[in-house]
Amino acid sequence: EWAERGAAKIVKEIVNPETGVMAKHVIKKGIKDFKFGEVLGDGSYSTVMLARSNDSGKKYAVKVLNKEYLIRQKKVKYVNIEKNTLQRLNNGRGVIKLYFTFQDEASLYFLLEYAPNGDFLSVIKKYGSLAENCAQYYSAQILDAIDYLHHMGVVHRDIKPENILLDKDMKVKLTDFGTAKLLDKNDGADNYDLSERSKSFVGTAEYVSPELLNDNYVDYKCDIWAFGCILFQMIAGKPPFKATNEYLTFQKVMKVQFAFTAGFPLIIRDLIKRILVKTPESRLDAAQIKNHHFFSTTNFDDNSVWEDPAPPLLPYKV
Ligand code: ADE
Repeated sequence: EWAERGAAKIVKEIVNPETGVMAKHVIKKGIKDFKFGEVLGDGSYSTVMLARSNDSGKKYAVKVLNKEYLIRQKKVKYVNIEKNTLQRLNNGRGVIKLYFTFQDEASLYFLLEYAPNGDFLSVIKKYGSLAENCAQYYSAQILDAIDYLHHMGVVHRDIKPENILLDKDMKVKLTDFGTAKLLDKNDGADNYDLSERSKSFVGTAEYVSPELLNDNYVDYKCDIWAFGCILFQMIAGKPPFKATNEYLTFQKVMKVQFAFTAGFPLIIRDLIKRILVKTPESRLDAAQIKNHHFFSTTNFDDNSVWEDPAPPLLPYKV
């Protein structure tokens, strides 16, 4: 798939004014079309930089992946997963948009939507915690984005505050789909098989689900588990399962051993207790969470989750 050089194709239909004949012109984008700026983030095998289009001046976030390193570290598979997943989800709600992909001798480039307000972890850290209305606002978008992924047959498998970016309007944009699982369609149906389970992948310790640690299997419910951990973190300022090292964190996760902080809102406690449930089958799914009392004032049917302005950011006060 990467065989074609400068692969980002834009087809423009241009009518010749003299002949009236319409011709398709293929315009390929390459690094020469962008100016690169500051580093926005560093991944384990990629660097994300600010980029600006020479023609339009539009800003992008360019993810640069070193080919030699990818091959040596056997990460090529994950890069293709990320590309295929983003292409499946393009134009969907709450997912970072992939505009172009291209390559040169040394690197692969993903031209992504630029999210100027950084990641959600920085927001939680800056305020220490989030007020209940802020938690409701951001968790509704995160949940709706997860629901969309699952409807599109994608399980993210590494949802965490660092992978939740914020655009210029403070709207949530999920990113980092290198560890995603693309589900197959049900035979003869147009829906994806959410019962599909995949083996042996570990996300990030604090957000990893007990079924992965116990049985080495995850299905779409692992994203719901991570959502529950993030909702907890918005109020408490720290994730529910946190210890001095990964091993101890895993022990807590497997035992579902967590405690609400003093003054934690009862309504959110109730919701989290129904999400941080050991068996994935008993854990609420996105549709059931949307119907929980915590979201009684949120309308998930009219797109207001994505249109309402963000409330002023404030910490949670007991
Ligand atoms: N850091 C990583 N990806 C980013 C993006 N798309 N926009 C802004 N910062 C980022």
